[in-house]
Amino acid sequence: MEGYISIIFYCCFDRYSDKLSLLLSKIIVGIGMLYNCLEAWNELGEMINTYLQENLDPATPVINYQSAKELKSTLKLRLDNIGSDRQAVMAEVQNYLKYSVRTTHPQFNNQLNGGFNIEALIGEVVSFITNTSMATFEIAPVATLIETKLINELNDKIGYTNGGGLMVTGGSNANMLAIHCARNSHIADVKFKGNQQFNPCVFVSEEAHYSFKKAVMLMGIGLDNLILIKSDREGKMSSSDLEAKILAAKADGKTPIMIASTFGTTVKGALDPIRENQEIAEKHHLWHHIDGAWGGAALFSQKIGDRLQDAHKADSFTFDAHKLFGTGLITSFLLTKREGVIKAANSGGGSEYLFHHYENADFDTGPSSLQCGRKVDSLKFWLTWKSLGHAGLTKFIDEQLEKVSFFRNFILEHPRLKLVCEPEYLNICFQVIPKNSSLEINQYNLDLRFEMVKTGRFLVNYSSDKDGTLFFRHVFCNNATTNEDLEYFLTELLKLAQY
Ligand SMILES: Cc1ncc(COP(=O)(O)O)c(C=O)c1O
Repeated sequence: MEGYISIIFYCCFDRYSDKLSLLLSKIIVGIGMLYNCLEAWNELGEMINTYLQENLDPATPVINYQSAKELKSTLKLRLDNIGSDRQAVMAEVQNYLKYSVRTTHPQFNNQLNGGFNIEALIGEVVSFITNTSMATFEIAPVATLIETKLINELNDKIGYTNGGGLMVTGGSNANMLAIHCARNSHIADVKFKGNQQFNPCVFVSEEAHYSFKKAVMLMGIGLDNLILIKSDREGKMSSSDLEAKILAAKADGKTPIMIASTFGTTVKGALDPIRENQEIAEKHHLWHHIDGAWGGAALFSQKIGDRLQDAHKADSFTFDAHKLFGTGLITSFLLTKREGVIKAANSGGGSEYLFHHYENADFDTGPSSLQCGRKVDSLKFWLTWKSLGHAGLTKFIDEQLEKVSFFRNFILEHPRLKLVCEPEYLNICFQVIPKNSSLEINQYNLDLRFEMVKTGRFLVNYSSDKDGTLFFRHVFCNNATTNEDLEYFLTELLKLAQY
C-alpha cells in the first residue's frame, strides 16, 4: 500500500525526492489506518453503550434463550475463503451481544462472576493494546510492578509480612499451584522421582471446589488420595472428621501434605473453620491452604473480615477478584505466606534463553509461573482498586452482604419459600414449596428453574445437597442487582409457581 502511494507521489511530483514521497505516503496510510481504527472504535463504543443501557431496562432479557441446535442455525458461524468487510464483522458483534448471556444485567445471579465496572474494561483494553507477556520485567515493566503491588496489598490484608504470590489463570489453577507448593515443600524429591514412593495425600471438604479433583488427577496424586472431609448442613468442614482422617491416612501409609479449607464454598458460601483447621495443620506439620477464590473478598469487609483473622497463619490463599468485584475473567491470585515458595516449586531449568542475568532479574515473575506467556490481568483490578479506594471495595462487599440479609428475610417471611441453610456469605440456597402437595419438591424446583430460564428474564442457578435436596442457588456477585431487583425476581418466580 505504502509502495503504491509513494509511486503515485513520485509520478505526480517528481521534483520531490524519493524519501519525501515515501514519508508523505506513510503519513497518508497512517492517517487512513488511524481513521479506520477510530471509526471502528467509535462504532464499538456506541454498541457497548447501547448494550449497557439496555441492561437498565427490566424488559431486556438476560438471555435470548435458544437451544444449542437452534442457536447453531441462527448464528451461521461460517468462515469463508474471501474475507468480510467491517460492516459484516460488526454485524457479527451485534449478533454475539444479542445471543450472549448478559452477566452485567441485574437479573443475572447465576455464576460466581457478574457485574461490571468501567475501570476494569479500560484495563482490559489497555492490556490488549500493549499485548505483552508477564514473563520478564524487561517486556512488562509497569505490569510487573502493578502485579507485585497488588500481591503486597492483598498479603497485607491477610497479614502475611514476608509473603509472595502470583497471578494465575483462575482459582482452579491457584488451588493446583498451592498443592504443588505444599508437595514441593514437604517432599522435595517428588520433583525428581515422582509421587509413587511417597504416596502424598490432600484433605479437603466434601463441599470443596471440583478443581481439587482435577489438580490431584493432573499431578499424579490421584483421586484416591484426595481425602474428603464431612461437612455439616451449612456446608462447613468438620474439624473432628479432618483430624480422624489424617490419622487414618498416616496409619494407611500415606504422606499427608495439605489441608485445604474453603472460605466461601461454591454452592452454599460456607466458611470452613480456619482457626481449628490451622491448629490441626500445625499439630501434624501440614501445609494449610485457604481457598478464598469466592470468599476472599471478605478481606475487604468490615462486616465479616474478622472471620479471616487467623488466615495469616495459613501457608497459602487463593483469591479471585473477578468473582465479586466485577473485574472480568480472569483476575486470580495465589498468595503465599513465604516469599519464593512458588518459584521453588516451579524451578526446573531450561529457561535460560528467556531469563537472563540483568539488573532487574529479581523482578521477573516468569520463573515462578507454570506458563511462559502470561497475560496482564493485574491492570483491570488495579484500576478498579485505584478508582474505588480501599473504602470503596469495603463498601462493595458490605453492600452485597446487606442484600443477602434482605433476600433472606423475604424468604423467611414467605410461606411458599424455604431457606435450605443459613447463609454465611453471599450465597442463598432456597426452595419454592409447591401449591399442590402431591408434587415432588425437587423436580418441582428443577422444572421451575428451567421455565424461568426460558422466559429469558432471570438467570439463577440450582444445585443439590448430598441428601439429594435440590434448590435454587442465588449468588450475590452482581453489584448491579438492587433490593428492588431481588424482590422483583422472587415475586415473578412465585407467579410462575402457580401449581
Ligand atoms: C471456592 C472456589 N474455588 C475455586 C474456584 C475456581 O475458580 P476459577 O473459576 O477462577 O477457576 C471456584 C469457582 O467457582 C470456587 O467457587
